[in-house]
Amino acid sequence: MRSHYCGALGTDNIDQTVTLCGWVDRRRDHGGVIFLDMRDRDGIVQVVFDPDTGEHFQRADRVRSEYVLKITGRVRARSAATVNPAMTTGAIEVLGKELEILNIAQTPPFQLDEYTAVGEDVRLQYRYMDLRRQEMQDRLILRSRITSAVRSFLDGEGFLDIETPILTRATPEGARDYLVPSRTHPGQFFALPQSPQLFKQLLMVAGFDRYYQIAKCFRDEDLRADRQPEFTQIDLEAAFLNEGQIMAITERMIRHLFQSVLSIELPQFPHITYAEAMERYGSDKPDLRIPLELVSVDDLMQRVDFKVFRGPADDPQGRVAALKVPGGARISRKEIDDYTAYVSIFGARGLAWIKVNDIGAGVDGLQSPILKFMPEEVVAQMMRRLGAADGDIIFFGADRMRVVNEALGALRIRVAADLDMVGDGWAPLWVVDFPMFEADGNGRWTPLHHPFTAPSCTVQELLADPGQALSRAYDMVLNGCELGGGSIRIHQRDMQEAVFGLLQIDAAEAEEKFGFLLRALQYGAPPHGGLAFGLDRLVMLMTGSQSIRDVIAFPKTQSAHCVMTDAPGEVSAQQLRELNIRLRGTQTGTAPQSGQV
Ligand code: AMO
Ligand code: AMP
Repeated sequence: MRSHYCGALGTDNIDQTVTLCGWVDRRRDHGGVIFLDMRDRDGIVQVVFDPDTGEHFQRADRVRSEYVLKITGRVRARSAATVNPAMTTGAIEVLGKELEILNIAQTPPFQLDEYTAVGEDVRLQYRYMDLRRQEMQDRLILRSRITSAVRSFLDGEGFLDIETPILTRATPEGARDYLVPSRTHPGQFFALPQSPQLFKQLLMVAGFDRYYQIAKCFRDEDLRADRQPEFTQIDLEAAFLNEGQIMAITERMIRHLFQSVLSIELPQFPHITYAEAMERYGSDKPDLRIPLELVSVDDLMQRVDFKVFRGPADDPQGRVAALKVPGGARISRKEIDDYTAYVSIFGARGLAWIKVNDIGAGVDGLQSPILKFMPEEVVAQMMRRLGAADGDIIFFGADRMRVVNEALGALRIRVAADLDMVGDGWAPLWVVDFPMFEADGNGRWTPLHHPFTAPSCTVQELLADPGQALSRAYDMVLNGCELGGGSIRIHQRDMQEAVFGLLQIDAAEAEEKFGFLLRALQYGAPPHGGLAFGLDRLVMLMTGSQSIRDVIAFPKTQSAHCVMTDAPGEVSAQQLRELNIRLRGTQTGTAPQSGQV
């Protein structure tokens, strides 16, 4: 129907007759002349109808916002006085000759340029309107360019795009499963994949050597700004490559994406061990744009009387750490109280601090509620270790290691944001040498990645000291966001059984849940490994969006609900009968709680 997109018109088209199809962004009546801003996915152009176009002018007079039109007209230069440099098409306009109304529209539920005035629920309920906004169009267009660049890069590297099932068995990645009842096997359920993990490993056993997929994953977990119940991974796996080679290929892929889509040259990707990341940033996904670091002071605090510090300092599972914030001495008492409340979310029982007013004056130049507990010479040594200077504030965390890391790690990010200390640009890195397991506090081990990740030691060494074993896993982090993670996998049955054993999955359960994998490992499984990127997070970062909901066409709300379609919804009694399901809460209108089916 159309000859050009609205946003594509420019001075090259002057004197051409063009046909445009799109929506009325705005209509203005300027004393007998009608201006229509016509919009399509490419942008907006101004169309002018003069009264001498007769019936077409009459129609132009009738149209309203969001009517769908087909317009034919001639492109002309705007007079110098009417050029609009704020519009990409601002040097020209279209003199309308013909106008056809393809469809009318009701008054929109919100003006597209006033979307912030309505809640996100309204935007999501009328998502097709929200998506008409240029910003949303741009984001989804960029997303499409990113997936296209990913495909061409991986195709070029010899990766094969192979689909894996959606109706499957549980693939554990640490979240709850979404279950689908089977009609043909009463009482039995499929699980939607939390990732294609096991299938991609089986594709390596099958000899495909290099696999990728832009794969939908499903996880029933608590949602945040960077998590959705269904999301998309750039998932890949390769045989006969080691971790260095997999990191090199995927790093090149991310570099290529930033270059080809955003014309951005990413800096070096430093490799940081998990232990170092926790020590210096209290996080395994540190934002390296923030110039603040945690410093351990356990050895010094072993020499103070203050029980709150002394206890964790003496405890091998404890930690006492300091976070120095240059210029932070201006932080008010009220703000310190707010930060104290903030770190309590992570279990911290307090937030001690020292303000450095005059470093040259010794303890007299410091201000703090805890100085009275510390020998002067300990304080002096600490100030030297921290490189303290006038105007600094130093925060302290003392507790179990996990609490200190989480609390000060989060405080580091929060204070940097409040004091405008987050640097510009891009700070990518690899985190490596993760522990295989962490203790869950109930005497059980949980895997830091998934249970198919290979340790960097032998079966005997693993069994002898599981808490010390490191894995062959690696995460890519960008600006404090975990963009992707992967590992070299276990490709031998005895190792896989040893790991299941440590996770207290007994032989019968292992056979029931993962028998197919254990068998496959016995039929010539090659050494292999891979990685998955969160596509939504990648697009969120590349478009500068605040939430992955802004880069997903039809996302779910925080409570995993689609307000537009009102899913999940109730089903008929007939469907439930066919599925052999009886609901426990039977009143109509009450949604069954999880676990009720
Ligand atoms: P992992 O669980 O780390 O690894 O997931 C890989 C990446 O997927 C993204 N991601 C999410 N994005 C949005 N919403 C979610 N709920 C969500 N959960 C995860 C993150 C994360 O880094 N099979 C392994 C990968 C492998 O070992 O190859 C896996 O799924 O960006
Ligand atoms: P108190 O003696 O309990 O008043 O504590 C003195 C200071 O230490 C206060 O600033 C508290 O916020 C702080 N504090 C208490 N417990 C901790 C802790 N576990 N880690 C860091 N600071 C703490």
